[in-house]
Amino acid sequence: MDRETHEGDEYRYLGNVHIIPVTSPEIAREFLKKQDATFATRPITMGTEYSSRGFLSVAVAPLGDQLKKMRRVVASELMSPSRLRWLLGKRSEEADNLVRYIYNQCIENNTTSDVGGVVNVRTVSRMYSGNVIRKLMFNLRYFGEGRKDGGPGVEEEEHVQELFNVLSLLYAFSIADFMPSLRWLDLDGHEKRMKKASKIVNSYHDPIIDERIKQWRSAEGNRFINKKEPEDLLDVLISLKDANGNPLLSIEEIKAQSADLIYASVDNPSNAVEWALAEMINQPEILRKAAEEIDRVVGKDRLVQESDFPRLNYVKSCAREAFRLHPIAPFNLPHVAVEDAVVAGYSIPKGSQVLLSRTGLGRNPEVWDEPLKFKPERHLDGSGEQVVELVENDLRFISFSTGRRGCMGVPLGTSMTVMLLARLLQGFSWSVPPGESVGLSESSHDLFLAKPLCALAKPRLPVHLYPAV
Ligand code: HEM
Repeated sequence: MDRETHEGDEYRYLGNVHIIPVTSPEIAREFLKKQDATFATRPITMGTEYSSRGFLSVAVAPLGDQLKKMRRVVASELMSPSRLRWLLGKRSEEADNLVRYIYNQCIENNTTSDVGGVVNVRTVSRMYSGNVIRKLMFNLRYFGEGRKDGGPGVEEEEHVQELFNVLSLLYAFSIADFMPSLRWLDLDGHEKRMKKASKIVNSYHDPIIDERIKQWRSAEGNRFINKKEPEDLLDVLISLKDANGNPLLSIEEIKAQSADLIYASVDNPSNAVEWALAEMINQPEILRKAAEEIDRVVGKDRLVQESDFPRLNYVKSCAREAFRLHPIAPFNLPHVAVEDAVVAGYSIPKGSQVLLSRTGLGRNPEVWDEPLKFKPERHLDGSGEQVVELVENDLRFISFSTGRRGCMGVPLGTSMTVMLLARLLQGFSWSVPPGESVGLSESSHDLFLAKPLCALAKPRLPVHLYPAV
């Protein structure tokens, strides 16, 4: 990456693309709030071409009619408040399964005089996120036989692993994206890896989608033959009609959009909660306060429900703090300038890529006091009246971002993150396994914890509250 001077402004460029990293919240707001429309498209990359089956789905599509079409579908048919209410039972089933699986692990891995065992929090968190979105999308937890204790089978382990592999390559620096003439050489091997990972992911999704389309449509896929009641988001996608009563979405669009939502759901909640718990185990006072809040609001004779969230503000401030300090990736999804612009006095040529730095914003010492310290209290105003949210519209850090390309799954993403953290804290007391430590270093090649969090869990509720099957 070179640094060059251009008419007095500094910018960086890769190949012939200008790259603008942003670490100041004021400038971030100029880009994504004041001049949002100018920066509302996405770059075309090899990785996103694969993940979206040629830019058919929302998250990575450049501006245009396809984005408009799919955005409308996602906003009004899949992520609307009424649709999310309709799906509440499925989310609750997976929240119960989470508690059941950890409880079973406490028994299976028991190393203490009372019930308790070492639990791999990364595995359970990723499994929970994968389960929730599979349940909402396809009405299933397991692609295969699954496991009796509620844990992931080999299929789910592979599915989640390959989802993460695809995600890591979407906007990974790849020479071919900046010098397309070199793409055929696949110099960094990214295309081979992307092809393999997305093929595996699709090999789980496609047969389910093909089979379901058969239940709804004629063999050519262009006419409805059967009216059944939709049971999940896949049914919703298949059953949408255009103005003439014909299927609104092609089979490829359904496949691309299903995968898009699955990719969007797995990584953020699981990463934030794994980090939050690791930080809290290292500062047991925070852990104690959060558990106390849950006991006060929910009590010990039922499990946390989504309706409790408005009153779990300390727990939410812990999740918020995890998004600030431990984002999933160094940068937000790229935004590209659709025309020349001037932002905060800098000339930004058309085609420039704006990268909001998640670490630069969230750990900016000019914005945050003791920026590297995990301090949930910084998100509380002390009034006791405040309802904490995970969104950060002022872009002092990036959780869901904001504006035209801001996250379309804020309520679902919030529900998954808060439920995961709250159920872990309510159901179990967490501590460092005997003779070990819980490290807080980042991995050398991404921002995950260097080693998956493995912590000692002990049930803290009456036995009958741990769901049986
Ligand atoms: C805690 C969970 C989540 C977090 C932190 C998160 C965060 C984000 C962020 C930072 C972006 C990029 C915004 C930008 O470009 O400025 C994004 C985009 C997006 N997210 Fe989420 N997300 C989460 C969960 C979800 C879920 C559950 C869904 C839906 C199932 C979803 C759907 C999307 C979509 C469709 C986009 C692309 C929007 C567009 O390009 O127009 N996200 N998300």
